[in-house]
Amino acid sequence: MADQYAQSRENQRPTEIPAIRWDEPPEGPVLVLLDQTRLPAEEVELVCTDAPALVEAIRTLAVRGAPLLGIAGAYGVALAAARGFDVDEAAASLASARPTAVNLSYGARRAQAAHLAALRGGGDQKQAADAALAAARALHAEDAEASARMATHGLALLDELLPGGNHRILTHCNTGALVSGGEGTAFAVALAAHRAGRLRRLWVDETRPLLQGARLTAYEAARSGMAYTLLTDNAAGSLFSAGEVDAVLIGADRIAADGSVANKVGSYPLAVLARYHHVPFIVVAPVTTVDPDTPNGAAIEVEQRAGHEVTEITAPQVPVAGAEAGGGIPVAPLGTQAYNPAFDVTPPELVTAIVTEEGAVSPVTAEALEELCDRSRQV
Ligand code: MRU
Repeated sequence: MADQYAQSRENQRPTEIPAIRWDEPPEGPVLVLLDQTRLPAEEVELVCTDAPALVEAIRTLAVRGAPLLGIAGAYGVALAAARGFDVDEAAASLASARPTAVNLSYGARRAQAAHLAALRGGGDQKQAADAALAAARALHAEDAEASARMATHGLALLDELLPGGNHRILTHCNTGALVSGGEGTAFAVALAAHRAGRLRRLWVDETRPLLQGARLTAYEAARSGMAYTLLTDNAAGSLFSAGEVDAVLIGADRIAADGSVANKVGSYPLAVLARYHHVPFIVVAPVTTVDPDTPNGAAIEVEQRAGHEVTEITAPQVPVAGAEAGGGIPVAPLGTQAYNPAFDVTPPELVTAIVTEEGAVSPVTAEALEELCDRSRQV
């Protein structure tokens, strides 16, 4: 009998277009994004010539995911500097384009600081713009390296928690190469397990309302050749109760000083399910996602998004004539109000471990996280 989860091999080819790249055509420098709103239907580039265009791309999720937002923020400041726009204004608008992922403001501020330091050191505008670009490139490269180290640490932790391999991992949202300079965060760990022959299956939550799991994680999983299965978010409970989940692996948009984790809405219910079913709940994120200035979960600003994302099924590549605000297919009566937080916050006591490029923290405590951040600063 055919495997009930058998998948087509047609899609198993690498993505041709990187998630983000800097380019310098004769008309002037540009930031080129893989437009994630168009996936998986088509791989289309989105070219940004200034910071406002990038802010719009960030708000519409053409570019998204915490580490990539940091890289985009830094390149966006470099773009403003290279094209002679107001760098401070660009940095401020980029840093606040979305509020939850701390990486975005970190990246924008880092490139801004490099620009300012060059000017203060006596450099001219060109040298300051070059310094901002060098900072963006450094962050991009560091993220790729961090991604590889998170994969190594994450796989070692999985092997320790679940001896014998053959892991069935549940993930939420999208955390692969589409959000990173490398192979991502949580997805990079699943990929490492797959390459080591220790991944039986990746369970992919579809991730309503914008379907990052269905559109993007399934797209990346298919291209990697791993066994994966898509489920609706509300099917996760039945999967746990059937004993089909060995571990949950997710990314993070901000980790507060006490270890509270903000991630895509729907992560917290998975943590509750995982605790009830005695399954490890593992968060994978670079140290840049830990925010010592945010003391606890209550202090994390959770982005609230437009209601039409819930009241309509939005498929941006297929505009629907006569649709309501978002151009999608209405699935609720006109005028229905929607509750649409983009993220939720999981308290540290529900998190088995936080895996970073500096190693894993378990149990998750403020002291252990502080020590990790200190270690990272010393490198
Ligand atoms: O709204 P998004 O698509 O930007 O949300 C992304 C997520 O929640 C990811 O899980 C998170 O950024 C971690 S990415 C490594």
